[in-house]
Amino acid sequence: MAGNSFGDLFRITTFGESHGKAIGVIIDGCPSNIEIDELFIQSELDKRKPGQSKITTQRKESDTAQILSGTFEGKSTGTPISIIIPNEDQRSKDYSHISDKYRPSHADYTYQMKYGIRDYRGGGRSSARETAARVAAGAVAKLFLKQEGIELFAHVSGVGEIEAPNVDSTDLNALLETREANIARCADPATANEMIDYIDNTIRKNGDTVGGRISAIVRGVPAGLGEPVFDRLHAEIGKAMLSINAVHGFEYGSGFEGSKLKGSEHNDIFTTENNKVVTKTNFSGGIQGGISNGMDITFKVAFKPVATIMRDQDTLNQSGEETTISGKGRHDPCVVPRAVIIVEAMAALVIADQLLKQRAYTK
Ligand SMILES: Cc1cc2nc3c(=O)[nH]c(=O)nc-3n(C[C@H](O)[C@H](O)[C@H](O)COP(=O)(O)O)c2cc1C
Repeated sequence: MAGNSFGDLFRITTFGESHGKAIGVIIDGCPSNIEIDELFIQSELDKRKPGQSKITTQRKESDTAQILSGTFEGKSTGTPISIIIPNEDQRSKDYSHISDKYRPSHADYTYQMKYGIRDYRGGGRSSARETAARVAAGAVAKLFLKQEGIELFAHVSGVGEIEAPNVDSTDLNALLETREANIARCADPATANEMIDYIDNTIRKNGDTVGGRISAIVRGVPAGLGEPVFDRLHAEIGKAMLSINAVHGFEYGSGFEGSKLKGSEHNDIFTTENNKVVTKTNFSGGIQGGISNGMDITFKVAFKPVATIMRDQDTLNQSGEETTISGKGRHDPCVVPRAVIIVEAMAALVIADQLLKQRAYTK
């Protein structure tokens, strides 16, 4: 009810703030007998954690996950799986300068208006630190989906004005390796170098931030997932993506570019391949009528340039007086390299939930 839970049958509830003792998640509804590979969960968290490269925030957190319940001898038992991630590097005094000031384009003013109280240390609950809990839960969902033959892949396809060319997605494992070989997490190495140079030498050195885009593919989803009319599959994925901090745009399939085409150019023609119904093109992004059609589900997410810049800015304090806020503390010059794994996690949670619904509501 209060917006801290996501999913119906594969349901997660996250808790915790940036500078509290820990953040964590309870996963309720994970099927039993799923191999819960703790090393995999940790490797997923390592891809999101701060301080991992010169183009991310220098806050140092090991983000070590501890599973408290719901597993036995390495497998899920069908009972709630709870995972906590202790907070370690809390320099709360770094934030005293914003205790009564509203950071422009952050969540300080809106949290104050809504709750009448706000934990200003690191942004409290509005901090993207909460997304570590989603990544842990998403890793569990991925382990479930792996048993179902479903794979997910996302990468940074754009930073500022830099745009990666379309990458060959025949082998998602190979793409994943290429992505993980560079700190921008872009599956096109030449574009990755351009992005890294731009983020490090133009954006970070000038104390600024820049936005970016993440493109994603979900492969192996059977035809039939999605609950029209209000819970169309793309609406569920869209909600999941728009719930991630700093996300300002979502499109699936041909997206906004597709709206420039004619029907004769855009229709996905059916054919068969190895006795399976497929479409010759995939402008639909694997979803028609809100239901998966068995093709790759493709979508793109746009992130804004985040608010914390290392400069003085005009703002208001809690009394409504004009003041200046100075750029201090540690921040991400561009969040998309860390957000790739959050996008994958949220997509995995949606598909896991929809798979369970499909089994519950249809024969
Ligand atoms: C991985 C990640 C890291 C982030 N790091 C920062 C940061 O260092 N500074 C900042 O101002 N916002 C950061 N954000 C974004 C804020 O959490 C977000 O902008 C804020 O909560 C306000 O929400 P909104 O932008 O969705 O409206 C980050 C977001 C993500 C996904």
